[in-house]
Order: sequence, then C-alpha cells, then structure tokens
Amino acid sequence: MKILGIESSCDECSAAVVEDGKKILSNVIATQIDFHREYNGVVPEIASRLHTEWIISVVREALEKSGLCLGDIDGIAVTNRPGLVGSLLVGVSFAKGAALALGKPLIGVDHIRAHLYAPHLEYDIEYPYLGLLVSGGHTVISRVDGFDSISVMGTTIDDACGEAFDKVAKFYELGYPGGAAIDKLSSRGDPEAFNFPDPSLHKGDHRYDVSYSGLKTAVINQLDQFWNGTSKKSSENIAASFQKAAVGMLIKRVKRAVKDTGIKTVVAGGGVVANSLLRSELTNMNDVKVLFPSISLCTDNGAMIAGLGYHYLSTGITSDLSLNASARVQAFRKKYP
Ligand code: KG4
Ligand code: ZN
Repeated sequence: MKILGIESSCDECSAAVVEDGKKILSNVIATQIDFHREYNGVVPEIASRLHTEWIISVVREALEKSGLCLGDIDGIAVTNRPGLVGSLLVGVSFAKGAALALGKPLIGVDHIRAHLYAPHLEYDIEYPYLGLLVSGGHTVISRVDGFDSISVMGTTIDDACGEAFDKVAKFYELGYPGGAAIDKLSSRGDPEAFNFPDPSLHKGDHRYDVSYSGLKTAVINQLDQFWNGTSKKSSENIAASFQKAAVGMLIKRVKRAVKDTGIKTVVAGGGVVANSLLRSELTNMNDVKVLFPSISLCTDNGAMIAGLGYHYLSTGITSDLSLNASARVQAFRKKYP
C-alpha cells in the first residue's frame, strides 16, 4: 500500500510517499528557515502563506521522485494536529481536495505520534519501548505499546525543550534556528562555566516531568547567580552550560523511566534529537538500546506522516471530509502506571 503523507504543521512544507509504512519512496522537505530568520522565530502568517505557495510543487516533486502518479496512491495522510492552525489548514485542505477529487481515503495524523513513529521507517522495533519526543513544541517521555498505543509518562509542565533552546539563542543572538546554533557553539564552550539548576520535580505525578521555564529564566535573567566565578561569560560558555542542563534534565528522567519500567529500549524523535550532546548521552546509557531516526527524519517530514497513516488505513481507520486542523495536542496523557 502506497501512502502520500503531507506535513505542514509549522515551517517545513513536506510531502512523501511511503510503501507499507516502511519503505520511503520519496521524502521532499522544503524548509522555510530563511524566511523566518530575520524575525528569529517562525512567523505564523508567513508560514501559512508559504505553505500555500509551495504545497503543489512539493507534492508534485514527491510523486515524481517516487516514480508514481496520484492515481497510484492508496491513501492520503495529513498532519491535522497539533501545530500552527493556519499552516495545518493548508495541508489539510489540500489533502481533503485531493482525496475528494481522486476518491482516495483521507487519514488525519497526529504530529506527535508521527514523530514517535519515525524510527520505524529505519528500524524493526519491538514493542514495548520508551518513546522520547523532544521538539520545538513538545517534550514527552512515554511508554509505547503499539503504533497508536502511547501512554505519556512525563511531559514538560511549561516550555518545550526546543523552545528553550530557541528562546535562549534569540535572547543572546546566538543564531537561527536556535537549537542548532547552540549545539554548534557548545562544542567550543565550557559546560562548567555556569551551574544552572535542575527543577526538583521528582514526586508523585511529576516523576518524569521536566520544566524549562526556570532554566530559561536562569540563563536569561540570572546568569551571574550561576556563574562559577572564573570562566569567561562568553556565548560559547553560556551555550555549553545551558545545553548541559537542558539535556541533563531529560537524561535523568529517561534513566528513571528505564529503571522503573524495566524497559530497555528507548526510541527518540523530534528536532532536538539532532542535538549532539543528547545523542551521545543517550547512546552512552548503560545496558539500554537507543534508536534514533537519521537527522532528516528527526525534524518535521512527510514520511513519518505517511508511515503512520499506513497503519491507520490498514486497520480501517480513516477520516471523513469534516477533518479539521487543531492547534491543540490531543489528550492522550494517561496517568502512568
Ligand atoms: O521537530 P521539529 O522540527 O519541529 C517541531 O515539531 O517543533 O523541531 C524543531 C526544534 C527547534 O526548537 C530547534 O531549535 C530544535 O528542534 N533543534 C535542535 C537542534 N536542531 C534542531 N535543538 C538542539 N540541538 C540541535 N542540534
Ligand atoms: Zn515536529
């Protein structure tokens, strides 16, 4: 079964064709980074306008690269939540129009679940595993028992991890996009220059939760309080110390989840998983198998949408033409255990 996947939830306009939820026949990703750089962040109005201009050529290129035409496609999967509503609506409207015109099934896909599915495009993974999703909008530690069976164990109680990278980079003008800029600067910085705090969320309901608002405030407003008194207060040192704290917070929660559940496979996804320190710290965890998607499947892409869409379609789950875009995360938080 060949699924066309469309992703337009934020600033990447992407379309892909994936066969049987596994084989990527094409995955075209048109990034809008250059158009948002001067604002140091994604401007929703610019994002949706560019999606409108680009979507037809992105889908056309994805089909051409796959060697197929629209008529060969068995279903059209599209991200319909969560994300920027104007951007989501472009993909959803396009997918609805194409599905109606071609008489093909339409499948609305949750972006977060799709990120957690992305590693399945490259590995054969057995359930259950711990899913770690770290992106610009989400920070989720979950137990995954099936493609649509995800119990959230912990999440951020305020800012997402990538959002904290982006805000710190914006404040100190370290570069755009912020996460990648901090990662690069950190390689030349001293991570001990500042000892930023780790929020003490370890009890009851918050055992696996993280919080980035306090860290962001510490880095932006209280830098001197956490300075070691000797190192230079340079961009490199701020970046490296912040990165160490931001990644350390996640690693601590993941280790706790591994210990509590006894599950020794961790599957990571989302844009922040491109971070070199996060990748090395996860890889170095003792006695735990960690699987990462390659970088092009970590950030937003149509292949993860098409891949997950296949599983819905093959189990008879489709959407009708009332499918709508939603900014909100679908409530799939379950109390764990
Ligand atoms: O998954 P993604 O492309 O979009 C969302 O769904 O949010 O993730 C984008 C996020 C941004 O916050 C970006 O700064 C962050 O991923 N990011 C990184 C790195 N590369 C991208 N954060 C830290 N280190 C990186 N190397
Ligand atoms: Zn994403």
